[in-house]
Amino acid sequence: MIKISPSVLSADLANLYSECAAIDAAGADLIHLDVMDGAFVPNLTFGAPVIKWARPSTKLPFDVHLMIEEPIRYVEDFVKAGADILTVHSEACANLSATIDKIHACGIKAGVSIKPNTPVDVLFSLLDKIDMVLIMTVEPGFGGQGLIEETLPKITELKREITRRGLTLPIEVDGGIKAENIGRVAACGADIFVAGSSVFGKPDRAAAITALRQAAEQAEKGLAD
Ligand code: DX5
Ligand code: ZN
Repeated sequence: MIKISPSVLSADLANLYSECAAIDAAGADLIHLDVMDGAFVPNLTFGAPVIKWARPSTKLPFDVHLMIEEPIRYVEDFVKAGADILTVHSEACANLSATIDKIHACGIKAGVSIKPNTPVDVLFSLLDKIDMVLIMTVEPGFGGQGLIEETLPKITELKREITRRGLTLPIEVDGGIKAENIGRVAACGADIFVAGSSVFGKPDRAAAITALRQAAEQAEKGLAD
């Protein structure tokens, strides 16, 4: 099933609470929160205290994308703040397996993300123990970039491996997703689509979410036929 996870990186962050409530009313399935530390990526955003204050604004799952070095240090903080899915970068963890175990021990779902130049097979040994894979389709750090086409074969390869092993974990994609390209990305087998500028940057966000969903569902249907 196709899900749309708008990224609040392109929202009015001074009004994060009302932006989360508004994007819920506009038809989002999850809310994507990008945490950046200025070290793993060359940008800074917000941390667990900000997420905690936004949490009561919606019942939608908080899909928290940690672009930080050694996220294991902060897992408990983000779980307490109300994250439902905590995604860490494989490139940022000295012990990825222990990081996943810690997220699970705190009682929430664990996702693992890879940057555009990281091969997807680094995740294959973990597929049985994680709840989501996040394929970055831009270099992490900033919203509003163009999708890197060379990342798309990794989605196809990952989907093939997930299906071959009879697993059901979803593939999330993040970066440069727009109504014009989401169909091609969905046709590769992605399930959850992060969209920042192509939702929050539009005057009618409900229409933007509907347009993304329809284009992705159409392509998914083509895949199933
Ligand atoms: C980038 C972030 C993305 C970003 C996507 O590092 O992880 O979630 O908000 O923004 P768009 O959809 O504008 O590329
Ligand atoms: Zn993100």
